[in-house]
Amino acid sequence: MKILFFGTKSYDKTYLLPCLEEEKYAGIEVKFIEAELTPNTAALAKGYDAVCAFVNMDVGTQTVETLHECGVQLILMRCAGYNNVDLETANKYGIRVAHVPGYSPESVAEHAMALALTANRHLHKAYIKVRENNYSLNGLLGVSFYGRTAGIVGTGRIGAAMARICQGFGMKVIAHDMYPNKSLDFVEYVELKELFERSDLISLHCPLTPETHHMINIDTIGQMKDGVILVNTSRGGLIKTDDLVRGIRENKFFAVGLDVYEEENGSVYEDLSEEIMPHSTVARLLSFPNVVVTSHQGFFTEEAMQAISETTMENAWYFAKGEKGPNELL
Ligand code: NAI
Repeated sequence: MKILFFGTKSYDKTYLLPCLEEEKYAGIEVKFIEAELTPNTAALAKGYDAVCAFVNMDVGTQTVETLHECGVQLILMRCAGYNNVDLETANKYGIRVAHVPGYSPESVAEHAMALALTANRHLHKAYIKVRENNYSLNGLLGVSFYGRTAGIVGTGRIGAAMARICQGFGMKVIAHDMYPNKSLDFVEYVELKELFERSDLISLHCPLTPETHHMINIDTIGQMKDGVILVNTSRGGLIKTDDLVRGIRENKFFAVGLDVYEEENGSVYEDLSEEIMPHSTVARLLSFPNVVVTSHQGFFTEEAMQAISETTMENAWYFAKGEKGPNELL
């Protein structure tokens, strides 16, 4: 079996190469390339049985069609989300798609709380001020989370981990999900509108679907408390960015922490520090003192990278031995 890994970074190889040394993967040949999987690069997969792609790549209709023409039979997503994959077209051509459903959900939840704390206590500003010999506290006032209400939207693996972290902070935890998580007996489930109305901290952990697209918009922002803190580590498309910018300008938010945002494709995981930033909503977001943006790094811990590499190779192994693995989507 031959796999072409698209968009390989040095840290991907650090975790994948030791996995490949396992005896059971002896028959699997892997090639790493830096190019991302897009409609323009998909043809590079000619002669490969499988391709491996990541969360920010374009695995839409055109890409899947080219992969089919190249003879590719398996798409390995080395991530949990697969909203960037055209599953219908893959299914039409009999291309199998596997992902890594649950890898260290705590890693993403911890990053969500880190964003909430950083934006709330202005650590991003404090770090720079102290380095410049400025020990004044102006602009650094925060709020205490203890005793306040955390609203978790989506209590699957990551949302449940975030709920437990918020409970540990002494917060009252409320949540919204169509399928309440029975292991969270300390959580009160409410309708989405009530969650927006009651929460001091709102953290988004549901997937991006046609139903959840732009769930945070000018109307739902209007339902929120003044001075709310909003964190998104799920998918950028959950928030209508222009409406968020308007809400921030109208002083609705005490703080906002974003690990994901609508315009992230084309910039996340790349060093663009020497480029002129084009007209961009992200630039506007970055101009606000109470907004912290990170580069889709919620997953990026040693534990998660290890688990992603192991599960990705395991998914390939099932295909190599002619079986359907547990993480296949079709
Ligand atoms: P999961 O599948 O375990 O949980 C998702 C939960 O959302 C489920 O309980 C589901 O019932 C619920 N849900 C679906 N539609 C909903 C709606 N309209 N309203 C409320 N709840 C709804 O997924 P998991 O592993 O917890 O991941 C959540 C999301 O986190 C992923 O979809 C992905 O977009 C994102 N993610 C981000 C990462 C990062 O590095 N920032 C890394 C991994 C995942």
